[in-house]
Amino acid sequence: MPESENIKWHHSKVTKEHRRNLNNHKSAVIWFTGLSGSGKSTISVELEKELHHLGVRTYRLDGDNIRHGLNKDLGFGPDDRKENIRRIGEVSKLMADAGLLVLTAFISPYRADRDEVRNLMEQGEFIEVFVDASIETCKSRDPKGLYKKVRAGKLKGFTGIDAPYEAPGKPEITVNTDVESVEESVQTIISYLRMKGYLI
Ligand code: PPS
Repeated sequence: MPESENIKWHHSKVTKEHRRNLNNHKSAVIWFTGLSGSGKSTISVELEKELHHLGVRTYRLDGDNIRHGLNKDLGFGPDDRKENIRRIGEVSKLMADAGLLVLTAFISPYRADRDEVRNLMEQGEFIEVFVDASIETCKSRDPKGLYKKVRAGKLKGFTGIDAPYEAPGKPEITVNTDVESVEESVQTIISYLRMKGYLI
């Protein structure tokens, strides 16, 4: 643990508000959560492309990518998943402070861990997007062949099979990828961002 009494916060003269004004849009984190194969990465990639075309400064953090670098020391037990989300929460907060609209795509299976990130952010800076898809749909998509590995007994502790997934109680947005196209889900999120004044 750091010796916090010996550590002092240094304030910048350029603030989040200054950066937001320069960008001409608000900053926040759009937090995608859902089962493996539900469509988190696919939707976030397409959403980022659309936002970029609209002139929004974005950055995308994705579970598979982050686990190659910043979080490569973490596995999939409950404690490591918690630490994974805690670190991403802190990184997202820094990026929102930098004025960006951050898109995160992590299973983030535990409600308490997601709520901790929500509490870390200022009011209105955490937009939880529940990417809802049945486990049957996810199994049938199986884009990385992981459900097949689970069936073959080669992968244990897999979310939705033998590890828990706690769906959000009151997400800001739900997209149901059992029935919606990627484009429909993207438009739902963009409409929300417009309606709530994030895009100005
Ligand atoms: S978590 O639960 O939020 O810490 O997971 P995350 O960082 O998003 O990483 C999920 C991706 O890791 C792969 N993978 C697993 N997922 C779930 N359970 C187990 N045991 C597991 N092992 C590896 C899988 O490719 C996940 O990616 P997505 O995009 O969700 O399919």
